[in-house]
Parts: sequence; structure tokens; C-alpha cells
Amino acid sequence: MKISIIGAGSLGLLYGYYLADNHEITYYIRNKQQISKLNEHGVRLTGSSKSKKVKAEIIDKCKTSDLFIIALKQTELPSFIKKYQSILRNKPILFLQNGLGHIEYIKKYNLEAVITIVEHGAFKKGYYEVSHLGKGSTKIAAYSKLADQSKEKVNKLNHPVLNFINYSDWKQISYEKLVVNAVINPLTAIFDIPNGELLKNSHLKSISESLCKEASAILALDHNLQWQNIIRICTATSKNTSSMRADILSGKQTEIESIVGYLLKQTQFNYPYLEFVYKGIKALEERGVKDE
Ligand code: PAF
Repeated sequence: MKISIIGAGSLGLLYGYYLADNHEITYYIRNKQQISKLNEHGVRLTGSSKSKKVKAEIIDKCKTSDLFIIALKQTELPSFIKKYQSILRNKPILFLQNGLGHIEYIKKYNLEAVITIVEHGAFKKGYYEVSHLGKGSTKIAAYSKLADQSKEKVNKLNHPVLNFINYSDWKQISYEKLVVNAVINPLTAIFDIPNGELLKNSHLKSISESLCKEASAILALDHNLQWQNIIRICTATSKNTSSMRADILSGKQTEIESIVGYLLKQTQFNYPYLEFVYKGIKALEERGVKDE
């Protein structure tokens, strides 16, 4: 199958590397240097001697394909979808982003979306090299009923390492991840710490639990179960830098809008911890966003 991957950050590279075993992978990206490196070297996984052959082209040449994987950040999604809506229509599209900002665009452009929750850790080491830090699964659920043709293509994605698991309810898989991201991402960015520190420092642990309670209340989830999930993820990724901390450190816009912003839009009540981290991240963004 021909698979187009939009974006070659850590997850774009990781998924392209493994899916290249059975599929023809084309990356559509903006960075010309990265395009020539990917065409020259393929994608390499840290610690493995063999790289995988892929194609890479400038994003403006994005054309139709059997299946799309959108590995752009939430902040880059709206303009991409708006521009390429006709190419994307009637094709299965996997959305790999954190947060739920993309739901608005999936609805607006009536896309055959597959909500994808990535439980693999990845770190981009260079234009064509990625480290696979923590192995987990890839949870997928169609946003609305997929056409039979699309379903067939999504089923062809199965891969022993990426470990795709099908779910029937997209909310079930994404709400849990939303709570995790609403707690870990802003706090690790504001306090400039790796994920595991949230459990080691008693005050940060208590703030984390309060945030977890608020996010769970908005989504009508059981707070205790979500807190256990956060403890599990903080422990498993204890040395990792969360994506939001990485964005703040490199002066990029974060995904706060589609994580905490999304939660706050779902309620008319006051949630002081969520409001604080929302404004805290906005303040860091205002101070430091570099022009890309
Ligand atoms: O965004 C991230 O960094 C990840 O989703 C997570 C789970 C918080 C781990 O760092």
C-alpha cells in the first residue's frame, strides 16, 4: 500500500521506519535538507544497522495515496487540512497528535479519520534517525464509520512492533490520554523537569493529582483510575522530556490549546489548577516563541 506520512518528527520517523517493512512510504515535509537526507539515507533506527528506504518530497507536492498518517503537531494541522482537504477526502487518515483540537477539523471537512493513541516513546536524533525509547501499543478507533475500502486499508497496517489495537470508541482511548497530557505536559514544561519528577516531589505530586481530578471531572472519568494511569506513565517515562517541555525549551508554540484549552472549553465551571497551567504555558509561549 502507498502510505503518505505528513511530518517527519519523532513519531513520523518511527512509524515510517516500521511500516516501510510492508509498504511504500512517502514523507511530505517542509525542510529541504531533511528531504534530501531521507531520500539519500532512508530512515534509521538507533541501534539498528539497516536503514529503511523511503521517499521524501516537499509538502506542496502532497498528492493522493492509499492511506495518510498525519504526524504534524496540532498547531500545524488546521492550515494543512484546509489546503489539502480535497486530497484527504475519502481516504483513511490516522491522526497521531496529542490533544483533541483536530476533532473540529475532522467534523468540518468530513474526513475518514482514525483517532490514534501512540503509546510508544520516540526521540528524533537527526533528520533521518529516530530512537525507539519505550515500546507500547498503537490504539486506533475510527472517528465515525469508515467506508469498507478504508477499513480494509487500516487493517493492513498491522505490525508486530507498532502493535495496532482496534477500539470501537474513540472517546474511550482519547479521553484517558487527554488527562495524561493535561497533567504531565504543562507541569513538566512549567517546572522544566523530566516526567518522573512529578511523582518524586511531594508538592508536585499533589498538584498533579489535583489537575488529574479536575480533568477527570470535566470528562466524567473515574479520577482514581486516571491517577493510577498517570503514575504508570510517569514511571515508565520517568527520564523523558514531555513534548510540551521540549517545545518550550526550543521556543516553539505548544499544544496547550488542544489539550487544556480543549478541556476548559467543555465546561462553564471554574477549574483553578487547569486555568493556572493554561495561563502558565501561555505566558512561557509569549515570552519565548521563536520565529520558525
Ligand atoms: O506528549 C508527551 O510527551 C507524551 O504524550 C507523554 C505521554 C506525556 C510522555 O512524555
